[in-house]
Amino acid sequence: MTGAAILDAAARLEAGGLVAFPTETVYGLGADAENPAAVAAIYAAKGRPQDHPVIVHVAPGADLDYWAADVPDEARLLAGAFWPGPLTMIVKRHAHIPDAVSGGQDTVGLRCPSHPVAMALLAAFKGGKGGVAAPSANKFGNVSPTTAQHVRDEFGDEFGNGELTVLDGGASQVGIESTIVDLSRLATHGPVLLRPGHIGAAQIAAVIGALPAAPDDAAPRASGTLESHYAPKAPVAQAGTARLAGLVTTLSARGRRIALIHYTPLLSGAAAHQTLPADPAGYAQGLYAALRAMDTAGVELILVETPPQTDDWLGINDRLRRATHGSIGILSRFLA
Ligand code: TXA
Ligand code: MG
Repeated sequence: MTGAAILDAAARLEAGGLVAFPTETVYGLGADAENPAAVAAIYAAKGRPQDHPVIVHVAPGADLDYWAADVPDEARLLAGAFWPGPLTMIVKRHAHIPDAVSGGQDTVGLRCPSHPVAMALLAAFKGGKGGVAAPSANKFGNVSPTTAQHVRDEFGDEFGNGELTVLDGGASQVGIESTIVDLSRLATHGPVLLRPGHIGAAQIAAVIGALPAAPDDAAPRASGTLESHYAPKAPVAQAGTARLAGLVTTLSARGRRIALIHYTPLLSGAAAHQTLPADPAGYAQGLYAALRAMDTAGVELILVETPPQTDDWLGINDRLRRATHGSIGILSRFLA
């Protein structure tokens, strides 16, 4: 990645174009947050509903008061502790931020990513004073991309060769999307954890002195919190470690083509399989690439070994629950 490529990409954003770029969590599909037509182009490319807000990415040291109204102390403390890094904060939107980025809500999601390419792009774009609106660079509902090739696999067709600028920053380190904490209703609801991620609720509590609560019915909408999301095309099901080997044997004996994603070393009779590290950080880093790889292995089912149900696996279990939601009941159908 050359400095010239980053300057070109920043110029493309300034001209209202789209640029896909790496972040430490997943790749984003970016546009100038202050250009409603550019933001509309992201929605069109993703096939995403217009009323779903996008996160605004800012450079280190960005002026929170430019983007947000009534910035609470909690937001400044969390930015100080975790930015640049995989934390998104939902705060009241400043009056001049276009409706388009917030899906008509009165809030805005802000994040300062730590990937060096993202930071260089944000520093070059509008002299470091701009905001880049960027959802994950995938079609609505699909698994998020963690490599530049994943982005090309998602959008290659409609942008045509070379049409979409994709900055290649290697594989994303964190591998699952940022933690989202809602600070827009502190007085009435306290902090709320809209999407779990690498930065855990306890780490947030250690900084602001209050543990973020689970979302209530009135919590801001987030597409990443839809029951079905982050899903491969093949059905996905989970099974506990003890049950897994037997299941693979039974299903394979019935002629089912199964792909297995597991973290305990198992003898696999599956048609395809992928082993992930047994620690949450390593597992998260490899999860989406594994789901994509297994999705292209021509199988009828991707079977995932259920991870431990402890706090440090919360973000991963959240994504797996959404990835499997559309396939509920598939195991009993296959075993019937
Ligand atoms: O790690 C990430 O957050 C990645 C990288 C590219 O930064 N971005 C990402 O964006 O995951 P996206 O759009 O795929 O997911 C962001 C989630 C969506 O569920 C969206 O609805 C929610 O954040 N969101 C954004 N702004 C919001 C707001 N003002 N209020 C409530 N939810 C918001
Ligand atoms: Mg997304």
